[in-house]
Amino acid sequence: MRFVQTSSSRIAVDVTGEGEPLLFIHGFPLDHRMWQAQTVHFSRKYQVLAPDLPGYGLSSPLEGPYTLHDTAAGLIEVLEKLAPGKRVTVFGLSMGGYIAWQLVHRWPERIARLVICHSRSAADTPETARGRRIAIEGIRQSGPAAFLAAMLGRLLAPQTQAAQPAVVSAVQGWMQQASPESLTWTLDAIAGRPDSTPWLAAIQCPTLILAGSEDPITPAAEMRELAGQIRSSRFVELPDAGHLSPCECPARFNSLLEDFLSATSP
Ligand code: MLT
Repeated sequence: MRFVQTSSSRIAVDVTGEGEPLLFIHGFPLDHRMWQAQTVHFSRKYQVLAPDLPGYGLSSPLEGPYTLHDTAAGLIEVLEKLAPGKRVTVFGLSMGGYIAWQLVHRWPERIARLVICHSRSAADTPETARGRRIAIEGIRQSGPAAFLAAMLGRLLAPQTQAAQPAVVSAVQGWMQQASPESLTWTLDAIAGRPDSTPWLAAIQCPTLILAGSEDPITPAAEMRELAGQIRSSRFVELPDAGHLSPCECPARFNSLLEDFLSATSP
């Protein structure tokens, strides 16, 4: 792991391989390990950068309110240190996708391609934001166990839960390492994120939008509609995948990504 001190945090980054940089931004409440299969595969040909976002993995803890824009700005500082002057292909899963929208909106000149997995551009509905406030209260009062158990059931497709116990226990282990403070400050930051939909029409770089047929959190139909608003995008729906396809079906995920990277090679 490399450690980069940004203006607001100390960020741990798994850096492997050499070549064109690929930045993998993890979802909530995980860390860079959710991209293990991608790191192994893509570091043969690319420089793979897989950070732990602030509050997760080995990065510095979250001690107060922040925004996903702050996180994106921190990642730009990381890129300046680890891939100076280079354009990067950004992979964002779910919360990582929310951060990726910030990157492509604010720093379009730094982004070579965009891959959005299991995410959305819309802000929270009032009902979803209310659910997050209830979750924050629940974690503060009783700890995170109930919240994490409910979340695990929604992250993985029923097929994964039935047939891949090693994936279930790995994801559960990663989630359990997040501190209650990280969970609550991140729920607050996610609930406060802006609607990125008005930004989609301005995206110029090649973009892949990836959905899972069994994902209850970011349904495939919503992601297909989102892809329709990005001029340079293609949309793929992975059958039998839930919200975490990079872990659930890594071989299919990697091969799709490999095809996209080859087809859009600069
Ligand atoms: C994630 O996987 O990052 C979360 O599901 C994001 C969210 O709760 O909106």
